[in-house]
Amino acid sequence: MSQANGHDDRTLPLSSVDEASGAFEPLETTPMHSPRAPDAHILERVEAALAELDLERKVRLLTGSGFWRTAAEPAIGLREMVLCDGPAGVRGERFDEREPSASLPCPTALAASWDEDLVERLGGLLAVEARRKHVDVVLGPTVNLQRSPYAGRHFECYSEDPLLSGRIGAALVRGVQAGGVAACVKHFTANDSETERYSVDVRMSRRALHEVHLAPFEEIVRAGGVWALMAAYNSVDGVTMTESPLLETPLRTEWGFDGPAVSDWFATRSTEGAASAELDLAMPGPGPDRPWGAALVAAVRAGLVPREAVDRKVRRLLSLAARVGALAGIAPPAPAPLASEPAVLLREAAAAGMVLLRDTGAALPLDPGTLRRVAVLGPNADTARIQGGGSATVVPPYTIGPLAGLRAALGPDVEVTHGVGARIRHRLPAVTGADVHDPKTGERGLWVRFIGPGGEVLHEEARGGGRLLWLDDPIVARAVAIEAIGVLEVREDGPHRIGVAGVGRFRLLADGIPLVDDDLVTDDPLGGILTPPERWAVVDLKAGGEVELHLRHDFEAERPGTGFVLGVDRPAAHENADLERAVALAADAEVAIVVVGSTEESDSEGRDRAHLSLPGRQDELIRRVAAVNPNTVVVVNAGSPVLLPWREDVAAILVSWFPGQEFGAALADVLLGRAEPGGRLPMTWPGREDDPAVLSTIPTEGRLDYTEGIHLGYRGWARAGATPAYPFGHGLGWTTWEHVGMETVASDGGFVARVTVRNTGARAGRHVLQAYLGRGDGGVERPVLWLAGHASATAAAGAEVIVDLRVPARAFEYWSEETGRRESEPGTYTLRVGGSSADLPLRTTVEVHPTGRS
Ligand code: BGC
Repeated sequence: MSQANGHDDRTLPLSSVDEASGAFEPLETTPMHSPRAPDAHILERVEAALAELDLERKVRLLTGSGFWRTAAEPAIGLREMVLCDGPAGVRGERFDEREPSASLPCPTALAASWDEDLVERLGGLLAVEARRKHVDVVLGPTVNLQRSPYAGRHFECYSEDPLLSGRIGAALVRGVQAGGVAACVKHFTANDSETERYSVDVRMSRRALHEVHLAPFEEIVRAGGVWALMAAYNSVDGVTMTESPLLETPLRTEWGFDGPAVSDWFATRSTEGAASAELDLAMPGPGPDRPWGAALVAAVRAGLVPREAVDRKVRRLLSLAARVGALAGIAPPAPAPLASEPAVLLREAAAAGMVLLRDTGAALPLDPGTLRRVAVLGPNADTARIQGGGSATVVPPYTIGPLAGLRAALGPDVEVTHGVGARIRHRLPAVTGADVHDPKTGERGLWVRFIGPGGEVLHEEARGGGRLLWLDDPIVARAVAIEAIGVLEVREDGPHRIGVAGVGRFRLLADGIPLVDDDLVTDDPLGGILTPPERWAVVDLKAGGEVELHLRHDFEAERPGTGFVLGVDRPAAHENADLERAVALAADAEVAIVVVGSTEESDSEGRDRAHLSLPGRQDELIRRVAAVNPNTVVVVNAGSPVLLPWREDVAAILVSWFPGQEFGAALADVLLGRAEPGGRLPMTWPGREDDPAVLSTIPTEGRLDYTEGIHLGYRGWARAGATPAYPFGHGLGWTTWEHVGMETVASDGGFVARVTVRNTGARAGRHVLQAYLGRGDGGVERPVLWLAGHASATAAAGAEVIVDLRVPARAFEYWSEETGRRESEPGTYTLRVGGSSADLPLRTTVEVHPTGRS
């Protein structure tokens, strides 16, 4: 029996592989692959439509017609297209409790599955979600690299490795686009951290740029056939990415990308510069301050921007419209019906990404038949984080937290106790329907009303909670103020923080007493949506009481969108008591499961992390619990590596990442052994903040130098000879494996490592095999090792299976500063295969012969 997946399925340019020695001779360096070109009838339709437009009407199409929409041109049968975030769900134009979206595991968790088939299926779910929410373009995947664990959007990226990032991203794109919905790969390029994100100038060698940072984009264009791409905010080599020559070469001239390059939101900064570069669509729009529009028409008329440049942009936009069904007469494929309920797939995916870092075998898997009492502790046990912060956030229909999931799975015969142990919230949590009721109707939630310029009430609505946002809303555009009113039901004695987060003028009254009366400002154009400034007052309240909250937000007329959070934080004065109680519960249970994690202050768009430790007193909580219960299992609910200084003192550590709405159900599946923890680390997990390969994200005078060059992630750790807490590719399952042997064989012009593995444990399982190349004595600088292929094996207990890992010729190549292209270096390479970058027991050498090219 054999099973393999995760292969590169392109035709490889290898001419001859000597089966005995594994030597081969590349015919030439990796050839151009053409991405799927639009059909002839689409091209004809696009040309016909283009021919009907004059300059003004063409240029009008190149700026959005709203925050999430492109402009329509009914005369040529073009409707508006809707572009929405992405990538861990489809937000849609309206993303609140009235129109929820399926919440997927965060992209890091998807990459941790190393499972392209699964990710492609999730892409199919995104297509279904997109169509349900009338979205044509999903803004994702994000394939910037996990260069540093400090990066705020680490959770939104796949991996520190370009090959894994590209393959997982391409799989997602294939899944989305098979349903006639476009994916928009982002952020092109080197947008790997958030500090000074609108302006940072990233510098690196041309080789690192092409070989490492552009590589995932290339894979997603070539193998994923992506239909749209987003140009990033930052600069590379002194040029802001919306004006970058990289949008032309290699993107279009070498990789053959034929879709539109869309600016990140508000990233288009010039008329001529951006229009002369191969940027096609300035988002969002419209507005007098947008750099294209009339100014671009004038620039074309003055000969500063060629007419052909405008035509190229419109052509690409129309091709996208044809592909997604926005151009009359061309119907896109409909998303395939889902093979199962979204919840089933989301639960499978969440478990498939969870990484078991450590397991002494003492506590896991949990056996409900032998357990009487389990303590589920920690700040994220009940209110878990299912997703990271920022534009990737969706509003899910429901969330299953670890406590609820474990209670359901352990059943009525196991007592599950719970204590938060440590409190880690920093930002004001929005009030929910559980905390407030509408004073007019008594219904759960808030009453919201829109006030016009004459003080008249334009519109009223009942809302489920205090997180409120309206974009491109005609009622907001007519209003000058919004009021949110609700009665807070007090559940605990003590000092409550009550306040607001938003941008603009706010006045908050509690039973008529002013708590906030302020103008809140930010200089971040998206700050009002991402992490708006907060103001609050602390009010001492008594359990059982009620307080009427009245928030008024004033703004100037004709503003199409606004939003704010009305928040209440329960008393945080019980910290010591919380900790002592959790320790007592742990001591009194057979197993203690401590769910720890990050806050909204970290793992969020718009800012990088300040440190890598778990916030608050979580380390102390784990140490204290482990001291009283040898069966302590720690679940790390974070989007990026955190320091685990107690890691040798606990029975097991499971990284759940941000696993989406099915978190608790999937966690219970894994902890009870009903599913394997399928994940393997897609990044290196450092042990200390001052470990040598932990890179900073702080620019110096606006510049961020990628001095590591091609030695990113595990490559850098290997070069420094440093040992991390857990290596790239690491992850345990519920069984064990022996790597029996390997041979190298020719296959389809490619090179295959045929690996035999045996399941040496007592149950069936899945093993992720990884192949790494190395080149000891070449004339060209190379990483100590680099990932060249992967595949997974599944086998019954005791069974042996053979797995093929294809290593494409491209994996041997490097990008040459001299020739400006990929080259192959003849000579002897080592090929090592195993279960992580630090566990590679199978080893052979491979000869690459000269190509004969001069
Ligand atoms: C983010 C993008 C996102 C866009 C629209 C930007 O701030 O960088 O990833 O797609 O906003 O929400």
